[in-house]
Amino acid sequence: MTAGSSHSNPAPTRGDEAPAWHLPFWIAHRGAGRRAPENTLAAFRLGASHGYTAFECDVKRSADGELFLLHDDTLARTTNGGEQVAGERSWDALSRLDAGSWHSPGFAGEPIPRLDGIAAACRANGWGLNIEIKPTPGDERETGLAVAKAVRRLWAGSATLPLLSSFRPDALAAAQAAAPELPRGLLLDTLWDGWQEVADRLAVVAVVTNHRVMDRALAMELHARRRRALCYTVNEPVDAYRLIDLGIDGLITDEVQRFAPGRQDPRLAA
Ligand code: G3P
Ligand code: MG
Repeated sequence: MTAGSSHSNPAPTRGDEAPAWHLPFWIAHRGAGRRAPENTLAAFRLGASHGYTAFECDVKRSADGELFLLHDDTLARTTNGGEQVAGERSWDALSRLDAGSWHSPGFAGEPIPRLDGIAAACRANGWGLNIEIKPTPGDERETGLAVAKAVRRLWAGSATLPLLSSFRPDALAAAQAAAPELPRGLLLDTLWDGWQEVADRLAVVAVVTNHRVMDRALAMELHARRRRALCYTVNEPVDAYRLIDLGIDGLITDEVQRFAPGRQDPRLAA
Protein backbone atom coordinates (compact mmCIF):
# COMPACT_ATOMS: atom_id res chain seq x y z
CA MET A 1 0.00 0.00 0.00
CA THR A 2 1.30 3.42 -0.85
CA ALA A 3 0.27 6.60 0.84
CA GLY A 4 -0.03 8.48 -2.41
CA SER A 5 2.69 10.80 -3.59
CA SER A 6 1.02 13.22 -5.96
CA HIS A 7 1.73 16.14 -3.62
CA SER A 8 5.19 17.54 -3.93
CA ASN A 9 4.39 21.03 -2.65
CA PRO A 10 2.96 20.86 0.84
CA ALA A 11 0.75 23.84 1.54
CA PRO A 12 -0.04 24.19 5.24
CA THR A 13 -3.58 25.30 5.86
CA ARG A 14 -2.65 28.06 8.28
CA GLY A 15 0.83 29.59 8.46
CA ASP A 16 3.58 27.29 9.69
CA GLU A 17 1.63 25.96 12.64
CA ALA A 18 -0.76 23.05 12.67
CA PRO A 19 -4.35 24.25 13.22
CA ALA A 20 -5.69 24.28 16.78
CA TRP A 21 -6.57 20.79 17.95
CA HIS A 22 -8.80 19.91 20.85
CA LEU A 23 -9.21 16.14 20.87
CA PRO A 24 -7.29 13.81 23.18
CA PHE A 25 -5.60 10.71 21.79
CA TRP A 26 -8.34 8.25 22.77
CA ILE A 27 -11.85 8.85 21.46
CA ALA A 28 -14.80 6.64 22.34
CA HIS A 29 -16.63 5.38 19.23
CA ARG A 30 -20.37 6.03 18.89
CA GLY A 31 -20.25 7.32 22.45
CA ALA A 32 -18.69 4.09 23.77
CA GLY A 33 -21.42 2.10 22.15
CA ARG A 34 -20.57 -1.53 22.71
CA ARG A 35 -21.37 -1.96 26.35
CA ALA A 36 -24.15 0.59 26.15
CA PRO A 37 -26.44 1.34 23.19
CA GLU A 38 -24.43 3.20 20.55
CA ASN A 39 -25.11 6.87 19.86
CA THR A 40 -27.11 7.39 23.05
CA LEU A 41 -26.34 9.58 26.03
CA ALA A 42 -26.06 6.38 28.10
CA ALA A 43 -23.10 5.39 25.95
CA PHE A 44 -21.41 8.75 26.48
CA ARG A 45 -21.89 8.35 30.22
CA LEU A 46 -20.44 4.86 30.15
CA GLY A 47 -17.39 6.11 28.28
CA ALA A 48 -17.01 8.95 30.76
CA SER A 49 -17.17 6.47 33.63
CA HIS A 50 -14.08 4.84 32.14
CA GLY A 51 -12.26 8.15 31.98
CA TYR A 52 -12.99 9.07 28.37
CA THR A 53 -13.29 12.78 27.70
CA ALA A 54 -13.92 12.71 23.95
CA PHE A 55 -16.50 10.93 21.84
CA GLU A 56 -17.35 10.20 18.22
CA CYS A 57 -21.00 10.04 17.16
CA ASP A 58 -23.01 9.79 13.94
CA VAL A 59 -25.44 12.57 13.09
CA LYS A 60 -28.21 12.72 10.49
CA ARG A 61 -31.27 14.88 9.76
CA SER A 62 -34.94 14.07 10.32
CA ALA A 63 -37.60 14.76 7.69
CA ASP A 64 -38.40 18.02 9.48
CA GLY A 65 -34.81 19.11 9.84
CA GLU A 66 -33.85 18.08 13.39
CA LEU A 67 -30.34 16.70 13.89
CA PHE A 68 -30.13 13.41 15.78
CA LEU A 69 -27.72 10.58 16.49
CA LEU A 70 -27.99 7.32 14.54
CA HIS A 71 -25.52 5.23 12.56
CA ASP A 72 -27.64 3.28 10.08
CA ASP A 73 -29.90 4.61 7.35
CA THR A 74 -32.79 2.61 8.80
CA LEU A 75 -34.10 2.27 12.31
CA ALA A 76 -34.17 -1.53 12.48
CA ARG A 77 -30.87 -2.46 14.08
CA THR A 78 -30.69 0.04 16.94
CA THR A 79 -34.28 1.04 17.66
CA ASN A 80 -37.77 -0.45 17.73
CA GLY A 81 -38.69 1.59 14.63
CA GLY A 82 -38.41 -1.24 12.10
CA GLU A 83 -37.08 -0.98 8.57
CA GLN A 84 -38.15 2.60 8.01
CA VAL A 85 -35.57 5.08 6.78
CA ALA A 86 -34.77 7.23 9.81
CA GLY A 87 -34.28 10.41 7.78
CA GLU A 88 -37.78 10.10 6.35
CA ARG A 89 -39.37 10.26 9.82
CA SER A 90 -40.29 13.39 11.75
CA TRP A 91 -38.46 14.19 14.96
CA ASP A 92 -41.72 13.71 16.83
CA ALA A 93 -41.86 10.10 15.60
CA LEU A 94 -38.16 9.47 16.20
CA SER A 95 -38.29 10.91 19.70
CA ARG A 96 -40.81 8.24 20.79
CA LEU A 97 -38.59 5.30 19.82
CA ASP A 98 -36.70 3.02 22.17
CA ALA A 99 -33.01 3.04 21.23
CA GLY A 100 -31.88 0.95 24.19
CA SER A 101 -33.85 -2.32 24.37
CA TRP A 102 -32.07 -3.82 21.35
CA HIS A 103 -28.86 -3.67 23.37
CA SER A 104 -29.99 -5.05 26.74
CA PRO A 105 -32.95 -4.75 29.15
CA GLY A 106 -31.14 -2.34 31.46
CA PHE A 107 -31.17 0.29 28.73
CA ALA A 108 -34.87 -0.08 27.80
CA GLY A 109 -36.43 3.26 27.00
CA GLU A 110 -33.16 5.03 26.21
CA PRO A 111 -34.13 7.66 23.61
CA ILE A 112 -32.44 8.70 20.41
CA PRO A 113 -30.60 11.89 21.37
CA ARG A 114 -30.73 15.12 19.44
CA LEU A 115 -27.50 16.94 18.69
CA ASP A 116 -28.50 19.86 20.89
CA GLY A 117 -28.78 17.54 23.91
CA ILE A 118 -25.37 16.05 23.20
CA ALA A 119 -23.93 19.56 22.83
CA ALA A 120 -25.29 20.51 26.24
CA ALA A 121 -23.76 17.37 27.80
CA CYS A 122 -20.41 17.99 26.12
CA ARG A 123 -20.27 21.60 27.18
CA ALA A 124 -21.37 20.86 30.75
CA ASN A 125 -18.81 18.08 31.18
CA GLY A 126 -15.97 19.54 29.13
CA TRP A 127 -16.10 16.62 26.68
CA GLY A 128 -14.58 16.84 23.23
CA LEU A 129 -16.66 15.72 20.28
CA ASN A 130 -16.10 14.34 16.80
CA ILE A 131 -19.35 14.64 14.88
CA GLU A 132 -19.44 12.26 11.95
CA ILE A 133 -21.88 13.73 9.43
CA LYS A 134 -23.71 10.57 8.38
CA PRO A 135 -26.34 11.70 5.87
CA THR A 136 -29.26 9.70 4.69
CA PRO A 137 -28.38 9.01 1.01
CA GLY A 138 -29.44 12.01 -1.05
CA ASP A 139 -29.35 14.37 1.94
CA GLU A 140 -25.58 14.97 1.99
CA ARG A 141 -25.45 18.70 1.35
CA GLU A 142 -28.45 19.56 3.51
CA THR A 143 -27.06 17.52 6.40
CA GLY A 144 -23.60 19.08 6.14
CA LEU A 145 -25.13 22.54 6.03
CA ALA A 146 -27.46 21.88 8.96
CA VAL A 147 -24.73 20.34 11.14
CA ALA A 148 -22.36 23.25 10.53
CA LYS A 149 -25.01 25.85 11.33
CA ALA A 150 -26.08 23.98 14.45
CA VAL A 151 -22.53 23.51 15.71
CA ARG A 152 -21.75 27.18 15.22
CA ARG A 153 -24.79 28.02 17.37
CA LEU A 154 -24.51 25.25 19.97
CA TRP A 155 -20.80 25.76 20.63
CA ALA A 156 -20.84 29.58 20.41
CA GLY A 157 -18.18 30.99 22.70
CA SER A 158 -16.56 27.59 23.27
CA ALA A 159 -12.81 27.23 22.89
CA THR A 160 -13.15 23.54 22.03
CA LEU A 161 -15.12 23.19 18.83
CA PRO A 162 -16.17 19.74 17.62
CA LEU A 163 -14.39 18.12 14.71
CA LEU A 164 -16.80 17.60 11.81
CA SER A 165 -15.89 14.51 9.81
CA SER A 166 -17.50 12.58 6.99
CA PHE A 167 -16.90 9.95 4.35
CA ARG A 168 -18.92 12.26 2.08
CA PRO A 169 -16.94 15.17 0.61
CA ASP A 170 -20.18 16.82 -0.52
CA ALA A 171 -21.39 16.95 3.08
CA LEU A 172 -18.08 18.43 4.23
CA ALA A 173 -18.13 20.96 1.38
CA ALA A 174 -21.55 22.17 2.50
CA ALA A 175 -20.29 22.44 6.08
CA GLN A 176 -17.23 24.34 4.88
CA ALA A 177 -19.39 26.82 2.96
CA ALA A 178 -21.73 27.36 5.91
CA ALA A 179 -19.15 27.63 8.70
CA PRO A 180 -15.59 27.64 7.38
CA GLU A 181 -14.13 28.22 10.85
CA LEU A 182 -15.18 24.77 12.09
CA PRO A 183 -12.49 22.07 11.97
CA ARG A 184 -13.13 19.37 9.39
CA GLY A 185 -11.82 15.83 8.92
CA LEU A 186 -12.01 13.56 5.89
CA LEU A 187 -12.91 9.93 6.63
CA LEU A 188 -11.29 7.34 4.38
CA ASP A 189 -12.16 3.67 4.30
CA THR A 190 -9.80 3.27 1.33
CA LEU A 191 -7.28 5.60 -0.29
CA TRP A 192 -9.38 6.37 -3.34
CA ASP A 193 -7.91 8.29 -6.27
CA GLY A 194 -7.83 12.01 -5.70
CA TRP A 195 -8.42 12.00 -1.94
CA GLN A 196 -5.48 14.37 -1.39
CA GLU A 197 -6.93 17.00 -3.70
CA VAL A 198 -10.28 16.68 -1.98
CA ALA A 199 -8.62 17.04 1.44
CA ASP A 200 -6.89 20.19 0.21
CA ARG A 201 -10.06 21.65 -1.25
CA LEU A 202 -11.94 20.99 1.97
CA ALA A 203 -9.02 22.39 4.02
CA VAL A 204 -9.34 19.51 6.46
CA VAL A 205 -7.28 19.59 9.65
CA ALA A 206 -7.42 15.80 9.99
CA VAL A 207 -7.70 12.64 7.93
CA VAL A 208 -9.33 9.74 9.77
CA THR A 209 -8.71 6.38 8.14
CA ASN A 210 -9.70 2.79 8.60
CA HIS A 211 -6.77 1.60 10.70
CA ARG A 212 -5.88 -1.03 8.11
CA VAL A 213 -4.87 1.58 5.52
CA MET A 214 -2.69 3.71 7.83
CA ASP A 215 1.03 3.23 7.42
CA ARG A 216 4.16 5.22 8.18
CA ALA A 217 4.28 6.91 4.76
CA LEU A 218 0.68 8.08 5.05
CA ALA A 219 1.16 9.38 8.60
CA MET A 220 4.26 11.27 7.48
CA GLU A 221 2.50 12.67 4.44
CA LEU A 222 -0.37 13.96 6.57
CA HIS A 223 1.98 15.47 9.13
CA ALA A 224 4.02 17.17 6.41
CA ARG A 225 0.82 18.87 5.36
CA ARG A 226 0.05 19.94 8.96
CA ARG A 227 -2.80 17.48 9.26
CA ARG A 228 -3.65 15.16 12.10
CA ALA A 229 -3.67 11.43 11.33
CA LEU A 230 -6.35 9.45 13.16
CA CYS A 231 -7.75 5.94 12.81
CA TYR A 232 -10.99 4.09 13.46
CA THR A 233 -12.10 1.64 14.86
CA VAL A 234 -9.20 0.27 16.86
CA ASN A 235 -10.23 -2.42 19.33
CA GLU A 236 -7.24 -4.78 19.44
CA PRO A 237 -4.07 -3.92 21.37
CA VAL A 238 -1.87 -5.23 18.55
CA ASP A 239 -3.43 -2.69 16.17
CA ALA A 240 -3.15 0.10 18.72
CA TYR A 241 0.56 -0.67 19.29
CA ARG A 242 1.29 -0.55 15.56
CA LEU A 243 -0.47 2.78 15.12
CA ILE A 244 1.06 4.37 18.20
CA ASP A 245 4.48 3.42 16.88
CA LEU A 246 3.63 5.26 13.65
CA GLY A 247 3.15 8.42 15.68
CA ILE A 248 -0.48 8.99 14.80
CA ASP A 249 -2.57 11.55 16.64
CA GLY A 250 -5.67 9.74 17.77
CA LEU A 251 -7.55 6.46 17.92
CA ILE A 252 -11.29 5.88 17.90
CA THR A 253 -12.26 2.77 19.87
CA ASP A 254 -15.23 0.79 21.11
CA GLU A 255 -13.11 -0.78 23.84
CA VAL A 256 -13.45 1.76 26.61
CA GLN A 257 -12.82 -0.92 29.21
CA ARG A 258 -9.65 -2.16 27.51
CA PHE A 259 -7.80 1.06 26.75
CA ALA A 260 -7.09 3.58 29.50
CA PRO A 261 -7.58 7.01 27.93
CA GLY A 262 -5.28 8.80 30.32
CA ARG A 263 -2.33 6.99 28.81
CA GLN A 264 -1.59 7.15 25.10
CA ASP A 265 0.18 3.81 25.08
CA PRO A 266 -2.09 0.97 26.27
CA ARG A 267 1.04 -1.04 27.13
CA LEU A 268 1.35 1.38 30.02
CA ALA A 269 -2.28 1.04 31.09
CA ALA A 270 -2.87 0.02 34.66
O1 G3P B 1 -15.90 8.22 12.50
C1 G3P B 1 -15.21 7.02 12.46
C2 G3P B 1 -16.12 5.83 12.33
O2 G3P B 1 -17.25 6.01 13.14
C3 G3P B 1 -16.54 5.60 10.93
O3 G3P B 1 -17.22 4.41 10.73
O4 G3P B 1 -19.28 3.17 10.27
O5 G3P B 1 -18.47 3.35 12.60
O6 G3P B 1 -19.46 5.32 11.47
P1 G3P B 1 -18.68 4.06 11.29
MG1 MG C 1 -19.13 6.96 12.89
